[in-house]
Amino acid sequence: MRVLTGIQPSGKLHLGNYFGAMKPALALQEENEVFLFIANYHAQTTVKDAEKLREYTREVALDFLACGLDPAKTAFYRQSDVPEVHELAWLLSVVCPMGLLERAHSYKDKTARGIDANHALFAYPVLMAADILCVNADSVPVGRDQKQHLEIARDLAGKFNRQAGEDVFTLPDPMIRDAVAIVPGVDGQKMSKSYGNTIDIFGPPKQVRKTIMKVVTDSAALEDKKDPDTCNVFALYKLFADDEEQHALAARYREGGMGYGEAKKALADKVEAFFAPYREKRAELERDPDQVEAVLLDGAARARKAIEPVLSAARKAVGLE
Ligand code: ADP
Ligand code: TRP
Repeated sequence: MRVLTGIQPSGKLHLGNYFGAMKPALALQEENEVFLFIANYHAQTTVKDAEKLREYTREVALDFLACGLDPAKTAFYRQSDVPEVHELAWLLSVVCPMGLLERAHSYKDKTARGIDANHALFAYPVLMAADILCVNADSVPVGRDQKQHLEIARDLAGKFNRQAGEDVFTLPDPMIRDAVAIVPGVDGQKMSKSYGNTIDIFGPPKQVRKTIMKVVTDSAALEDKKDPDTCNVFALYKLFADDEEQHALAARYREGGMGYGEAKKALADKVEAFFAPYREKRAELERDPDQVEAVLLDGAARARKAIEPVLSAARKAVGLE
């Protein structure tokens, strides 16, 4: 199966991104043909500072490679190294009714949050459809927030095919990551850069530990019995611990006599140990930017090879060839 997904380089990756998006995406590479790209054109709608966009793009590349992306299995590329997506976005714009974009939640949500209401933000779903359709992806793993974008991509593919009288594009199936639990942030809300409550996966270790010590808990005293199932520290601990370790810590919560500080320390130790090998690999890659660049350029070359016949069929279908 051909699988494609994109991630916006719009800030530092946090535990929510790791467990919610990165780990499931990396698991797919074992059994599928995977295209994974850094959506830097899309990130332009929110990251206006050129230096920041460059930095975030570079960091996402390092993060994925450090955490186990295998460039032999996954075509890993920067969106901006595949300019063909813009031509396809145009061909799709021609069959895209205004009403379809006017109904898009993401545009309304983002403008309500103060993000510039410009054409790029409005046309965002068309570019996203082009990302997907240009390689004829069968399946697209995304979070629930992206479901409507996938519906738009299917809609545009169907409209284009009907008009062309042939199946130029594959209708992509969404693979919604519902099974993945929402990772709580330090304040107990969903972890998100927009809430400033993140634990970054590659933050300086001391800083990460300090942030973990700030995770909010109830005000139970040290000797009190505690409920692990309503505790943010325990919810995070579960992501890193095996069943036996989870049971052992849960039992200590229920017995009383253990303070939250101790649970936080156990969590910080787990987080540190879990990411230590990835940190090492990341530091190695950071010392070798040419290697990272070569991986991204090779990924882009593979993507462009997959795109070429699809784009050519689309151009023929509308009379450009
Ligand atoms: P943020 O909310 O920090 O801006 P993004 O929306 O850029 O993060 O997240 C990219 C993907 O990471 C999302 O589509 C989602 O699948 C996943 N993700 C983000 N935060 C969480 C979370 N707290 N729990 C689970 N998954 C998350
Ligand atoms: N819109 C996606 C997000 O914000 C990123 C993205 C861009 C994407 N193009 C894509 C995801 C194509 C899947 C397929 O998370």
